[in-house]
Amino acid sequence: MNVSQAKALVCFPVILLLSQSAMGANPAHGKDLHNANCQSCHSSLMGGKPDTIYTRSDRRVSSLDGLRNQVTRCKTTVGVAWPNDQVEDVVEYLNNNFYKLK
Ligand code: HEC
Repeated sequence: MNVSQAKALVCFPVILLLSQSAMGANPAHGKDLHNANCQSCHSSLMGGKPDTIYTRSDRRVSSLDGLRNQVTRCKTTVGVAWPNDQVEDVVEYLNNNFYKLK
């Protein structure tokens, strides 16, 4: 084994650990992702008031799992390749601001 192989072995788990601890959902990032990718379609659906799709009385989402599923479904519609942690950021943003599910 040469030095750079040894470094790769040592450093790789460290990077994994760092990115894990940096994980924890980040709703501010979720808001940015959401506003850039999701808002315009909801806006045209809801007559220029995109957020009302989350607060209308007959909204579909009624659980955190349901919210996660819907974000994943709409993400596929949009065609953005968000990894799970970015899905969680958006779920956290939507839940903190609109759904307030436990
Ligand atoms: C091409 C249009 C379109 C785009 C883009 C879009 N959505 Fe949607 N979204 C819809 C439609 C249509 C519904 C309503 C479905 C229904 O009422 O049956 C919806 C509903 C939702 C709901 C559920 C609202 C409720 O009733 O509780 C969530 C959450 C949601 N979208 C999240 C997202 C996210 C996150 C993105 C960005 C990744 C996104 N959407 C992008 C069309 C879109």
